[in-house]
Amino acid sequence: MDILLRGKNLTRRWGGLVAVNNVSLDLERGKVHAVIGTNGAGKSTLINLLSGEFPPSSGQVELIGQDVSQWPQPRRARAGLGRSYQRNTIYPSFSVLENCRLSAQAQHQQAWAFWRQAETDPTTQNLGQEAAVRVGLVDVLDRQAGFLSHGQKRQLEIAMCLATCPQVLLLDEPLAGMGAEETERMLALLQELKKEHAILLVEHDMDAVFRIADRITVMVNGNVIASGTPDEVRNNPDVRNAYLGDH
Ligand SMILES: Nc1ncnc2c1ncn2[C@@H]1O[C@H](COP(=O)(O)OP(=O)(O)O)[C@@H](O)[C@H]1O
Ligand SMILES: [Mg+2]
Repeated sequence: MDILLRGKNLTRRWGGLVAVNNVSLDLERGKVHAVIGTNGAGKSTLINLLSGEFPPSSGQVELIGQDVSQWPQPRRARAGLGRSYQRNTIYPSFSVLENCRLSAQAQHQQAWAFWRQAETDPTTQNLGQEAAVRVGLVDVLDRQAGFLSHGQKRQLEIAMCLATCPQVLLLDEPLAGMGAEETERMLALLQELKKEHAILLVEHDMDAVFRIADRITVMVNGNVIASGTPDEVRNNPDVRNAYLGDH
């Protein structure tokens, strides 16, 4: 097994509230690991703990065999941890390509001689372009991001994440608000991306989750109540009671 990211006994408290309670999970290259649960279950908090947005109250994170628990988010990102956010983070007045290039630039900044012109740096230009092409935005590279369709904006967010050359992708509700056709395109993209990456997918669209996930973790009030293959989770009585509804 090629485990790229490992969360170990992660807990996060907000005052008296335990948003994430002793959660462990492994992300493997070649696999989509979905995390599902109702609003407030702790899914986004879990992503934030893994990505280093804020520290856990307790627990550890291992990235490609290294303990990164004390590393802030930018350092984890440089070590191969990519993420998208639940809310849109694109620059609407910049083109698709510029958005991707800026993302690559932010990532590689430190490796750069500062006197070089960012706009003409071939490395970030190429990384940005490759990422945009990869997600299927090749025909709209020069379009202002604000004028993209909703689905294209979500594709762009994935491209911006890919432009940082991650090994692990943490995706927070990438299908939110998408129509059927856009959803299909995104699922095909995730199938393609998982060949090279380990993917954590937080998603509410259960049809999509059960189709694409290799493993599913179910959270309720910060706790994992079940984790397993889609079949195991579908047939788990606790999950049916607590979450899926008995249908
Ligand atoms: N910054 C914060 N400060 C205080 N409470 C928070 C904060 N972020 C999240 N929470 C709380 O933690 C719980 C889990 O939230 P979240 O991880 O966003 O859930 P989900 O993504 O599953 O909807 C919720 O009760 C939420 O109100
Ligand atoms: Mg959330």
